[in-house]
Amino acid sequence: MIFEHLFTPVRIGTMTVKNRIGLPPMTVGYGTADATLTDRHRAYYEARAMGGAGLIVTEAAAINGNRKYGLFPLGLYEDAQIPSWAKLADAVHPYGTKVGVQLMDPGPESIQMLTGIQPVGPSAVVGRSHFRSLPREMTTGEVEAVVEDFAEAVGRAQAAGLDCVQIHAAHGYAMVGSFLSPFFNKRTDRYGGSLEGRLRFLLEIIAAVRAKVGRDYPIMLRMSGDEHRTGGRTLQETQFIARALVAAGVDGLEISGGAIPTAFYAVVPPQGTELAPNAPYAQAIREVVDVPILCVGRINTPRLAEFVIATGRADLVSMGRALNADPEMPNKAAEGRLDEIRPCVGCNEGCISAVMKGLPAGCILNTEAGKEIDGPPVATERPKRVLVAGGGPAGLEAARVAAVRGHDVTLVERREKLGGQVNLASVAPFKQEISQVVGYLSREIEKAGVKVELGKEVTPEFVDELKPDVVVVATGATPLRPASIPGIDGEKVVSAWEVLGGTSEAAIANNVVIIGGGLVACELADFLADTHDNTGAMPTLVTMLEMQPLMAMQAVYEIRHLLMKRLHDKGVRMINGATVKEIVDDGVVYTTHDGREETIHGAEYVILAMGSEPNDELASKLEGKVPEVHVIGDAKQIARILEATAAAAELGRRI
Ligand SMILES: Cc1cc2nc3c(=O)[nH]c(=O)nc-3n(C[C@H](O)[C@H](O)[C@H](O)COP(=O)(O)OP(=O)(O)OC[C@H]3O[C@@H](n4cnc5c(N)ncnc54)[C@H](O)[C@@H]3O)c2cc1C
Ligand SMILES: Cc1cc2nc3c(=O)[nH]c(=O)nc-3n(C[C@H](O)[C@H](O)[C@H](O)COP(=O)(O)O)c2cc1C
Ligand code: SF4
Repeated sequence: MIFEHLFTPVRIGTMTVKNRIGLPPMTVGYGTADATLTDRHRAYYEARAMGGAGLIVTEAAAINGNRKYGLFPLGLYEDAQIPSWAKLADAVHPYGTKVGVQLMDPGPESIQMLTGIQPVGPSAVVGRSHFRSLPREMTTGEVEAVVEDFAEAVGRAQAAGLDCVQIHAAHGYAMVGSFLSPFFNKRTDRYGGSLEGRLRFLLEIIAAVRAKVGRDYPIMLRMSGDEHRTGGRTLQETQFIARALVAAGVDGLEISGGAIPTAFYAVVPPQGTELAPNAPYAQAIREVVDVPILCVGRINTPRLAEFVIATGRADLVSMGRALNADPEMPNKAAEGRLDEIRPCVGCNEGCISAVMKGLPAGCILNTEAGKEIDGPPVATERPKRVLVAGGGPAGLEAARVAAVRGHDVTLVERREKLGGQVNLASVAPFKQEISQVVGYLSREIEKAGVKVELGKEVTPEFVDELKPDVVVVATGATPLRPASIPGIDGEKVVSAWEVLGGTSEAAIANNVVIIGGGLVACELADFLADTHDNTGAMPTLVTMLEMQPLMAMQAVYEIRHLLMKRLHDKGVRMINGATVKEIVDDGVVYTTHDGREETIHGAEYVILAMGSEPNDELASKLEGKVPEVHVIGDAKQIARILEATAAAAELGRRI
């Protein structure tokens, strides 16, 4: 057995969890206006129970309808909401999985635009989330009312048949987090002043909850081991708080990290950051209390999960995005089918970033995430001969789904390697994990019986020969090279794709100018500024020219935060508001945001990272030749892997 510890039971208070793998709270955004769980929610959680998770804690649910942190939050603030939670318990229990709810009061982070009500908090110190409103300091009586709200909500969870609850006290924000934080809590009554004062609110919540539901109902709590921000809570204080909470009757602690928003990169740690960053904190807290410790954060494979448990860092591992990417991961691990696990690459694009934009959570690789209610692809009654042109993520996913349904699929890629632009996407530092998109999909298409031909271009003649019923044009994009810029055809002008693809000497130049400041440009700068000149003495001089007022504006918030910090630390010269007028022999002439003309000299290469345009020529050439032609991915519209795979899966189901 590879996993000696992962698949052993563990007790949290009176509750026995069948294994050590939990789904932590993730707001997936499938709710409706009445704050009840929808069928879509239930299907999402049921899939994770069916896939083998031992414990599920649902996304945050509100304890008071007057405070909202998102468009459609779940709630347990009215008895009418109980039945939808009871249905969830009924859906999950047949798999032997325990289920609880995370209870949260957004407090000062409540969005006034959504409620029409001014948010309240420990003090009139403004919250730091995106849609901030000015909060009002609660009276002592109002604080006591929130304590009661928590107790009532836990009572409703118990009435619904949920096995446990988790109180959200993590990430240095919202109501409980703000009371605990000296940054937000400036109170002079018994709820502020000292550490004990800041902790009193939470201890009163636990006492009220225990009075409501008795000693036996499992109560867990989530907090950050370290908030990783100036003035934020550090490990020792968390250890102190942990002991007080356990003495007050908390049955289990989930250790997360970071604070919202300044250390959000530690709350949902993205690609390229340390794996299991909270494990050392979990271990240190485990040393001072005698209740089970759950550890969360970038524990993204069963082997790593086993390591965390086996080495005594935690008693359970919460694997959020890993289970979003593959709900069946626990079962596959238990059966030794490790190669079949759909990896989470930490891109944050389909899950947390989508939710922060007010969209439902999905996944770049798991195109069924959030769509479990639709069931798996259905076998076709009329198998067709399908030709997929292009082996990027769009072509790979379309081929996979069509083949799983029983179509006869051939995928043709003009290069010698599958993956398309993802091969370029994984080159920059901290991006290597994204290459797993190609590895996983390549294995899956092979398993599904797709015939793959590499090093061949799909042309109208090729199509005439093969005579497919359907052609899927997934031919991607071509980098933009605006002919209107004088000098753009110069010998020393190359594209970012050539540099990242390892086919341009610009990669070993000592001084370059990048035109563009989007994600590709910034990642390229991150890559080039890591290198030194031939003597090893000087870092490569990288200058970026961007028209917009900010760099990498389209990037995921926490990824951008880390990327920008690296570019600053590496001394990349970032010039915003710059309009390029001309490329000269050794540099670029541009106009500044206030209309001055400037010239950069000394560049050995000028690298274009000005975006790309759809490469859809094949589609027009096939008009009238084939019964069905579909264009997907970047060939239709330039976007990201998320959009490419989503469109591909949708087409695969429709063919
Ligand atoms: C440097 C860089 C970094 C990026 N980073 C990210 C990221 O972190 N996250 C993210 O979501 N997106 C990222 N992207 C964008 C993402 O890679 C693309 O949106 C995605 O790959 C589009 O998928 P696709 O399958 O539509 O096209 P492509 O990936 O471009 O694949 C198209 C394939 O079709 C082949 N082809 C073209 N014509 C033919 C033909 N006639 N016959 C046969 N084959 C043909 C091409 O060789 C290519 O392999 C990045 C892009 C770049 C350039
Ligand atoms: C889409 C999404 C929604 C989240 N919503 C919540 C939430 O409602 N409450 C919470 O405490 N944490 C939330 N988190 C944080 C996760 O619970 C978890 O701590 C984080 O994703 C890191 O763990 P992972 O690497 O296993 O995904 C969310 C994360 C994601 C990706
Ligand atoms: S969208 Fe990216 S980060 Fe989120 S679960 Fe999928 S692979 Fe992981």
